Amino acid sequence: MDALSSSFLSTFPTKSPNTAPKRNPGKSLSVSCVRIEERPTTQTPSKTTRPPPQPPNQTPSSYSSPLPTKPNSPTQPTLPAVIFNLFDDFINTFVDPPLRPSVDPKHVLTSNFAPVTYELPPTECQVIQGSLPPCLDGAYIRNGPNPQYLPRGPYHLFDGDGMLHSIRISQGRAVLCSRYVKTYKYTVERDAGFPLLPNVFSSFNGLTASATRGAISAARVFSGLYNPANGIGNANTSLAFFGDRLYALGESDLPYAVRVTSDGDIETLGRKDFDGKLFMSMTAHPKIDPDTGETFAFRYGPVPPFLTYFRFDPNGTKQPDVPVFSLTSPSLLHDFAITKKYAVFADIQIGMNPIEMIGGGSPVGLDPSKVSRIGIIPKYAKDDSEMRWFEVPGFNIMHAINAWDEDDAVVMVAPNLLSAEHTLDRMELIHALVEKVRIDLKTGIVSRQPISTRNLDFGVINPAYQGKKNRFVYAAVGDPMPKISGVVKLDVSNGEHKESIVASRMYGPDCFGGEPFFVAREPENPEAEEDDGYLVSYVHDEKTGESRFLVMDAKSSEFDIVAAVKLPRRVPYGFHGLFVRERDLKKL
Ligand SMILES: [Fe+2]
Repeated sequence: MDALSSSFLSTFPTKSPNTAPKRNPGKSLSVSCVRIEERPTTQTPSKTTRPPPQPPNQTPSSYSSPLPTKPNSPTQPTLPAVIFNLFDDFINTFVDPPLRPSVDPKHVLTSNFAPVTYELPPTECQVIQGSLPPCLDGAYIRNGPNPQYLPRGPYHLFDGDGMLHSIRISQGRAVLCSRYVKTYKYTVERDAGFPLLPNVFSSFNGLTASATRGAISAARVFSGLYNPANGIGNANTSLAFFGDRLYALGESDLPYAVRVTSDGDIETLGRKDFDGKLFMSMTAHPKIDPDTGETFAFRYGPVPPFLTYFRFDPNGTKQPDVPVFSLTSPSLLHDFAITKKYAVFADIQIGMNPIEMIGGGSPVGLDPSKVSRIGIIPKYAKDDSEMRWFEVPGFNIMHAINAWDEDDAVVMVAPNLLSAEHTLDRMELIHALVEKVRIDLKTGIVSRQPISTRNLDFGVINPAYQGKKNRFVYAAVGDPMPKISGVVKLDVSNGEHKESIVASRMYGPDCFGGEPFFVAREPENPEAEEDDGYLVSYVHDEKTGESRFLVMDAKSSEFDIVAAVKLPRRVPYGFHGLFVRERDLKKL
C-alpha cells in the first residue's frame, strides 16, 4: 500500500509539523527535531566511472517553482520560527493524545521501514549470483518515503519525504544511488533546519492537537516561512516516464521532473506545471498508452469537481481538463485504468470523513451505506456527458492492474480490498483479493470473478499490454501488508475452476521485497511472448540487514534468479518503481 489520499488534503489549511519530541513520562520539553544528515559524497568509490554529467535539456525557468539553490546549511532560525517550534514541542509533549500504532513513529519506522540516514552517491555494486542480462540496460528506480527529520510526533507510513533508489545497469555492471526528491517542501525545510509542514496522514490526531497545529501552520505561512502555492507534496509514491521526461510523483502535488545522470546519480530538475496547464495535483498512477505514446491521468479532491480527467499528447503537452461532475461525492481515487477506448474509474466506499475530521480524526473513512461504482468515460471525451456509472457493491480498490475492451464490454483486473475500512489505520488487517470485473456496456450487467484468494497487491503487467487484453499479472504477496514476502504470477485467462497462480517465489525467512517490475527481454520484438522477460525488485534480509536487487526469469515457474546484486547499503521498503531504458535516460 502506498500514499493514498493526500489530494484530499492539498486544499486544506496547513497544520503544524510533527517536530517536537515524543511525549515522555516527565512531560519535559526537548529539541524540536532531529535531522537525517546527508553525508558528504565521499563514498563514491574510485572504481565507479563518472563521466561528466549531461546537461539537462530543459532550463529551470520552464518549471513552476525553481528550487532554492542554497546549500545544505540551515540558517539561523528567526524569532517567530523559534516561537512556532516551541509551540510544536508543547503540542507533541502535552496536547497529543496517546499515539495509535499506525501513527506512532516507534511502531511505523521499525526494521527496514526506518529511513536511511544519508543520501548515497553513485556506488558500485557487486553481482553475487548469475549475471545481469543485456536487456537490463538502463536504470530501475524505486520511490518511497524517507523522512528528512526523524518524527517526534505522529507519523504515518505515507508521510515521509520521497527518496529515489536507482540502480543503473550497463554492460552487466550496476551502480546504486539514493537521493531525496528535492521538492519545495524538502528544500525549504532542509534550509530552515526543521520541519515546517505537518504530516498529512497523521496530523489529525485529536481535536485540540489538530486545531492548534492548524493555527501554527497558518502562522508559519502568514509569516512567510512557507508558501503553499509552491506545493506541499513529498513526491514519495511513484515514477513515470512520458513526453521524454522522467517524473517523481505524489498525488498531493504536481510532478517533479528528475533525471538519472550518465554516472548513475539522480538530480531533481523542478516542479512541473506543464506551461501552467496543470493545476494543484496529479495522480501518482498515470497510464501510458504503449501504442500512441499518450499519457492519461487525473486529479481528485474534496471540492467539486471531485474528479478531473485529462491527458497528455505524445510530446507531453497537457490537453484540456475534463471535469467529471457526475461524481457527486469525494471518493478516494488513487488509481485508474485505461482501455483502447475508455478510461475506467472506481468510486469506492472510502471517501472524506468530515465528521471524524472535525473531531480530529482521520479525514478519510469508509461509508458502509455507499455502493461502490465503476465509471467509464470515452478516452478522448471533451466533457463527462458520455460517462456511465455501474454499481459494483463492495468493490474497493486502491490499485488497478489493467483493463481492456472485449466485444461490447470493458474488463478490469484489480485487487479488491476486503475490510477496506482498515486502509489507513490497520493495514495489516487488509486482504486484497484480485478480481476480474466485466461490465457489459450494452446490458449494464456486471459480472465478477475472483482470480486468486491470496492477499495480493502491487500488481504489474508487461507495460506493452497497458490497456490491452493480457494474460499475465505479477503481484506482491502481502504477509501481511505492508510487508511483502514474495511474488506470484497470475494467469488471468484461467477460468473460475482453475488455479490462476502459475509461478511464485517466496523470498525466504526474514526476507521481504516490494512491488515487482516487468522488463521485456526483447521490447522491440512484436512477436515476443507476453511473459518473455524479467521481474526485478529490491529484497531486504532483516536478519543480516542486507539488501539485494533481484532479477528473476518471468517465464519460469519458480521465478528463477538470473542475477542477484548485493547493494552497498540497505534500501528501505517503499512504494512503486520503474525501469527506464538507456535510450530514454539519454533523453533526460
Ligand atoms: Fe499506489
